[in-house]
Amino acid sequence: MIELEQVARHFPGAGGETRVLENVTVTIERGDCVVLSGPSGCGKSTLLHLLALQDRPSSGRILWEGDDTGRWQEARCADFRASSLGMIFQQFHLLPHRTVEANVRFRCRYTSQHLGKQEVEALLVRVGLQDRIAHPARLLSGGEQQRLCIARALALQPKLLIADEPTGNLDDANSTMIRGMLAELHAQGQTMIIATHDGAWKPQANRLWTLSAGCLRE
Ligand SMILES: Nc1ncnc2c1ncn2[C@@H]1O[C@H](COP(=O)(O)OP(=O)(O)O)[C@@H](O)[C@H]1O
Ligand SMILES: [Mg+2]
Repeated sequence: MIELEQVARHFPGAGGETRVLENVTVTIERGDCVVLSGPSGCGKSTLLHLLALQDRPSSGRILWEGDDTGRWQEARCADFRASSLGMIFQQFHLLPHRTVEANVRFRCRYTSQHLGKQEVEALLVRVGLQDRIAHPARLLSGGEQQRLCIARALALQPKLLIADEPTGNLDDANSTMIRGMLAELHAQGQTMIIATHDGAWKPQANRLWTLSAGCLRE
């Protein structure tokens, strides 16, 4: 589904270049659960931003279904992000004063798609939040907020689910619940990549990537 060919990402800075990724060549197949691990600052988020077409490599190519995304204009990248990627973040990035339902619907903001009431309800059933549909997001617990993020991310049946430290702000019980939820989605065929420094995710990966000193080992 995705191929990275000799991808590098260097950031220019006053004290010289920061060389975050070097010569990364990997693929993601449909149905994979990739766990991307490594210590804080090793470049996990940088790699996810490249996969999400939010950033461009300094050199190398990223192909989506055989198509070189380096040739895509920014508008096409934005369309692709809006329609084909589901994102889950450590900081949730919810609209705190809007309802659970409104937060799921917000997923369609930059697309021409619309979610019916039944679709929203079905998504909330999948994450166990059906009883909270009219609650403002700020009144949910951390674990519930992350479940809402998962519902939002799944709304448009993403080709790829991208999770950046999805349990970084959660306690053990909620982390276990979120891991279980993503394991179930993987079992149902959802393709996903999870960046984390938490080793508890490793057993559920079918692809394990480790980043250190800019190099990715599979
Ligand atoms: N836009 C940027 N400009 C300069 N340096 C950056 C930028 N983005 C990330 N970095 C640097 O790249 C390194 C890796 O960051 P990041 O990918 O966020 O690591 P991780 O997600 O593994 O904690 C860090 O040293 C960070 O400061
Ligand atoms: Mg990060």
